[in-house]
Amino acid sequence: MEAVKSVNLVKTYHGKETVEALKGVSLSIKKGELFTLLGPNGAGKTTLLRIISTQLLPTNGEAYVLGFNVVDRAESVREHIAVVPQDVATYGNFTPWEYCYYFSLLRGMTKQKAKETSEKALKAVELWELKNRTCATLSGGEKKRAIIAAALASDAEVLMLDEPTSGLDAVARRKVWIVLREMIEEGKTILLTTHIMEEAEMVSDRLAIIHKGELIAQGTIEEIKSLTKEKFRVVVEGKSLKTLDKFISNHSSVSFGSKRIIYIDNGDEAIDLVKKALKNGLKAEASPITLEDVFVKLIGGEMNENRKNG
Ligand SMILES: Nc1ncnc2c1ncn2[C@@H]1O[C@H](COP(=O)(O)OP(=O)(O)OP(=O)(O)O)[C@@H](O)[C@H]1O
Ligand SMILES: [Mg+2]
Repeated sequence: MEAVKSVNLVKTYHGKETVEALKGVSLSIKKGELFTLLGPNGAGKTTLLRIISTQLLPTNGEAYVLGFNVVDRAESVREHIAVVPQDVATYGNFTPWEYCYYFSLLRGMTKQKAKETSEKALKAVELWELKNRTCATLSGGEKKRAIIAAALASDAEVLMLDEPTSGLDAVARRKVWIVLREMIEEGKTILLTTHIMEEAEMVSDRLAIIHKGELIAQGTIEEIKSLTKEKFRVVVEGKSLKTLDKFISNHSSVSFGSKRIIYIDNGDEAIDLVKKALKNGLKAEASPITLEDVFVKLIGGEMNENRKNG
């Protein structure tokens, strides 16, 4: 049985205007894996996460968490999940300690166990020193870490985190990545949303790319990267790239001022390009294609600029 499964999930918001936020999304998350939903602003990530976590009803289609239907068996689903929403609103009088400890007690944990898991979670997000400060006096990132800690402290089998690291500094972000992977080692299942490519690439076992309410790719990072025929990127920089016209017109590429990324199918050709550029006094560097390159290509972004052949 999958940890999370959705079948043709549709969500239409009926407000002043009708928004089709999800247009039939089917995905499957295995037990014990960290699954990332990657998509641009407005793609439907939060909508999907809120339906799966029983906070929002679907318009059509079905979703299950550990086999429980999220509509008919919402109570059972809630017993097994912990959620970190995108926009955390903390109760100002609560301290990080109280968030972790009381929420764990509410979930039926013993006092002893709740103390242990709260301490572990607060230390993991480096909030132990601030554990007795009221949330009203914490910074935005510290508040967010308090809510993440509360989810980590719970004994929930499935964690759902909506952009948990947005607003966190680079050090705190990495700390969260480490903890998430530790939770996976302990056997939990994690559903994460992000639009940070590095995050998706560093922590995910599998990921799905969602765009305008549709799932456009799903798989491991290697599987997603194999969806484009270009395997290398060469970044060239210089005042005039005229000498590289042949390469530029034959491949997809994109320029940012004096820099241009040229996408190349095979390694030998990428090396040829680098050699030629260096010979002509340009800066050049070849590396494997990144998740960001593939993402931009799949959602039809600027990677296709200047594509003449293929
Ligand atoms: N309550 C609502 N009423 C009407 N439209 C909504 C509502 N909530 C979201 N939407 C629309 O549904 C679409 C998906 O929104 P959603 O919040 O799921 O995106 P997201 O992928 O989480 O984006 P972000 O990265 O900005 O958080 C967007 O077009 C948004 O404007
Ligand atoms: Mg969102």
